[in-house]
Amino acid sequence: MSQARLKIEVARAALRHVESGMLLGVGTGSTVNAFIDELAASGLRLEGAVSSSEATTSRLKEIGVKVMELNHCGDLELYIDGADEVDAHRRLIKGGGGALTREKIIAGASRKFVCIVDESKCRPILGEFPLPVEVIPMARAFVSRKLTGMGGRPQLREDFVTDNGNLILDVRNLDLINPVQVERDINQIPGVVTCGLFALRGADQVLVASESGIETR
Ligand code: 5RP
Repeated sequence: MSQARLKIEVARAALRHVESGMLLGVGTGSTVNAFIDELAASGLRLEGAVSSSEATTSRLKEIGVKVMELNHCGDLELYIDGADEVDAHRRLIKGGGGALTREKIIAGASRKFVCIVDESKCRPILGEFPLPVEVIPMARAFVSRKLTGMGGRPQLREDFVTDNGNLILDVRNLDLINPVQVERDINQIPGVVTCGLFALRGADQVLVASESGIETR
C-alpha cells in the first residue's frame, strides 16, 4: 500500500473519534489534509474547528467548517494531528510543516490529542527527523549558537516564514534520549518560541496505519 493510501486509512480511522456538534482542533500536513477530505465525505457536522495553520484554515473553510479563534472557545474536546516522528511513549517530533507553535497551543488546550501517522513515522528513539525550532528573527544567530552548544547542528529553513512571522531552525544531531528535558532546555533559550518536541504534552492516542491495518497505541 502506498504511503498516501496509508494516510487516507488512518485519517478514516480518526473519524471514529469525531462526533457531530464537536468543537475540534485540527492540525496541519498531508495526513491532516486526508482527514479533512474524509471529514467532508462523512456528513458529520461540527460546531466548529480551531485550526493550527492558515493552510488548514483554508481547507476547512472550503468544506464548510466554521473556523473559530481559540480565544473564543474553552478547552477543546479533541485535537487531531499528524507527526513527523512518534516513539513508544507517544512523544512526538512535529513541525515539518512549520506549524509547531499553533499545534502545541491547540494540543495543550485539548482534553484529548489523537495523533495519526503511517508506520514510517514510528521510531524507538526520536531524532532522526531534524527538530524544528521556531525562533524570533532577531534571535536567529544567538539561538543557533546555543543549540550548537547543546551538540546540535541547526540549519535555517530557507525561504520560510511561519504563520506567526518567525523563522525555523531545523536541528540535527541532538541527543533526544530524554526528550522531556531537551524540550524544557530548548524552550528556555530566549528568542525560542517553541521547539517541535511534544514530550511534556505528547499524544493521548496514536493511530498507526500499516499494511496490516490500524494499530492504536
Ligand atoms: C506540521 C506537522 C505535521 O503534522 C507533520 O509535519 C506531519 O506531516 P505529514 O502528515 O504531511 O507527514 O507537524 O507542522
